[in-house]
Amino acid sequence: MTRVFSGVKPTGHLTLGNYLGALRQWAETDQHRADSLFCVVDLHALTVDHDPARVRRLSRQAATLLLAAGLDPERCTVFVQSHVDEHARLSYLLECVATDGEMRRMIQYKEKSAREQVRGGSVRLSLLTYPALMAADILAYDTDEVPVGEDQTQHVELARDLAVRFNHRYGQTFTVPKATSPKVAARVMNLQDPTSKMGKSDDTGPGIVYLLDEPEAVRKKVMRAVTDSGQDVVHDRAARPGVTNLLEILAACAGGDPEDLAASYSSYGALKKDTAEAVVEVLRPVQERHRELCADPGYLEQVLRAGAEKARTMARPTVDAAYRAIGLLPA
Ligand code: TYM
Repeated sequence: MTRVFSGVKPTGHLTLGNYLGALRQWAETDQHRADSLFCVVDLHALTVDHDPARVRRLSRQAATLLLAAGLDPERCTVFVQSHVDEHARLSYLLECVATDGEMRRMIQYKEKSAREQVRGGSVRLSLLTYPALMAADILAYDTDEVPVGEDQTQHVELARDLAVRFNHRYGQTFTVPKATSPKVAARVMNLQDPTSKMGKSDDTGPGIVYLLDEPEAVRKKVMRAVTDSGQDVVHDRAARPGVTNLLEILAACAGGDPEDLAASYSSYGALKKDTAEAVVEVLRPVQERHRELCADPGYLEQVLRAGAEKARTMARPTVDAAYRAIGLLPA
């Protein structure tokens, strides 16, 4: 059976981008067709300035939202990364296989480290080595497929390269994974700046639709989305990024093809109104389940405990095999 692994980082409140680019596929497709694991990757949240209490709160919230989005613990394994030591154990071995140059080439590292320096802060070493930990997340589980939004495909490519290199040097140990992304909305853009990704860790609130935004807030954000200077509705990411983003969101939420939808609108106002309502409808059931789950925190604890136990037994043999293959003495 195909093995699927993916994760979400608790560095902010989850967004519509997280949902359309990743969570929805996990819930609607992956958990039904594959042996799948979904993880709140909390160790990754420590790579930038963080408040410990906030990371704990966001980790719990992200896990609740994974269930609210429809992940069923009877069908898939839901857990928290730091509960399973194998991720950190394997990450170190992969740092010994990766090169400094390939880590520095990662787009996300370049962007985030540049931003950190502009703020006058220092760049944590873990921000540079982040992709080794992400590769460990994936490779520890003999993963075949990694469903992610477009912004993560470069990291999954690196995980592939590391798996191939390790196998070549030290003998067949890892399954070589590949990234999969949804056909539409694989890169949802910021509504206020449609040339940059809608990211949960950004500070531009009005451009980001959060999964737990009230319907009125969603409507306001979509209606105020920055559009382009022309008047006609055209799907063209380079020339008309604002309108194209709305068409992609509408297509992902209400169905249809973004290019066909473009032909059925003659004004930005109508497009925005329909997009806002489509987003509200998509978020409604997630928010309802989220409310129910919050009323029973014991259930979440129990799911995460069982998930970690299962994940541990799955990861340990592969990570132990990697330790032996690379030359470490068995304990
Ligand atoms: P993270 O937490 O930034 O995002 C979680 C998932 O949501 C997708 N995503 C988007 N998709 C479309 N449009 C957007 N605007 C958008 N923003 C986010 C991401 O592509 C991702 O699939 N490094 C990862 C977490 C991670 C991981 C892993 C993922 C750690 N280890 C192992 C897969 C496998 C990250 O920061 O995702």
